[in-house]
Amino acid sequence: MKILLLGKNGQVGWELQRSLAPLGEVLALGSDRCNFTDMDGLTNTVRQFAPDVIVNAAAHTAVDRAESEPELARTINALAPGVLAAEAKRLGAWLIHYSTDYVFDGSGNKPWMETDPTGPLSVYGASKLEGERLIAESGCRHFIFRTSWVYGARGGNFAKTMLRLAQERDSMKVIDDQIGAPTGAELLADVSAHAIRTSLVNPDVAGLYHLVAGGETSWHGYANFVIDFARQAGVPIKVMPDAIEAVPTSAFPTAATRPHNSRLSTGKLTSAFGLHLPHWQVGVTRMLTEVLESR
Ligand SMILES: NC(=O)c1ccc[n+]([C@@H]2O[C@H](COP(=O)([O-])OP(=O)(O)OC[C@H]3O[C@@H](n4cnc5c(N)ncnc54)[C@H](OP(=O)(O)O)[C@@H]3O)[C@@H](O)[C@H]2O)c1
Repeated sequence: MKILLLGKNGQVGWELQRSLAPLGEVLALGSDRCNFTDMDGLTNTVRQFAPDVIVNAAAHTAVDRAESEPELARTINALAPGVLAAEAKRLGAWLIHYSTDYVFDGSGNKPWMETDPTGPLSVYGASKLEGERLIAESGCRHFIFRTSWVYGARGGNFAKTMLRLAQERDSMKVIDDQIGAPTGAELLADVSAHAIRTSLVNPDVAGLYHLVAGGETSWHGYANFVIDFARQAGVPIKVMPDAIEAVPTSAFPTAATRPHNSRLSTGKLTSAFGLHLPHWQVGVTRMLTEVLESR
């Protein structure tokens, strides 16, 4: 099997390099070799390699910056995936793509189902939703995995920022009215590989799935978990537990509006693929262990 992996340097792309390796010959490219602003280049890359599977982990993920560069966000998150989908259709290849909880308006407190109405609040969310639509309309065989609150052990992430602040400050403020599930790039990559394997024997599993770790928390709950873990591991944490203040989203104004309810229901995915999605604390514990051990 020939697999074209795009966005190889991102959080998810990095882990996909590992999880896709045993499935076949992987050509993994970053934006230096395959840029989504160059549609002809993108088309040529796909045609030259003629993959059986295209895995697209590239995206314009700077949510706030997207508000001031909507055309670029649309090009990378919608038009380029549309080109990939058209090429996949032409080749008879699969397209694996990632989308986001930001396609929803964040209302209510129930986990969103794949069939629920969308209503993006931001340019990023709208661009990702258009990407989903172009892929579905192309008629190519595809998986779209909507996920949330992605972290990887490599590079910066929310947990590392909280760890740093907790060692520097006496008090902290963290948002407690956005609810979701921190989801490891490792988990996304591993489930993607399982899904590709499943598609070989059962192509009927194609479609849109919600894919997040189990359980739910707020950013405040997430920060507390990270800081408690570090304190117990002997990290010199300065902030006292009662000095981590829970604040509303309005305390930190941002260019892009974030959804309050980012809960995603994963029942469709777990039953289609026979998989278990571990609780978010499992993956975060693993990531923190790696981060603290490498200090
Ligand atoms: N991060 C989250 O919290 C989150 C939440 C929900 C959904 N998602 C979705 O999950 C997927 C993976 O996200 P991630 O967190 O792994 O993203 P990431 O770490 O920000 O990586 C995105 C990658 O996209 C590539 N890219 C950006 N502009 C490009 C361009 N013009 N041409 C080609 N490549 C370009 C970059 O490549 P180079 O490094 O080579 O420049 C970068 O490595 C995305 O579809 C994202 O929308 C993410």
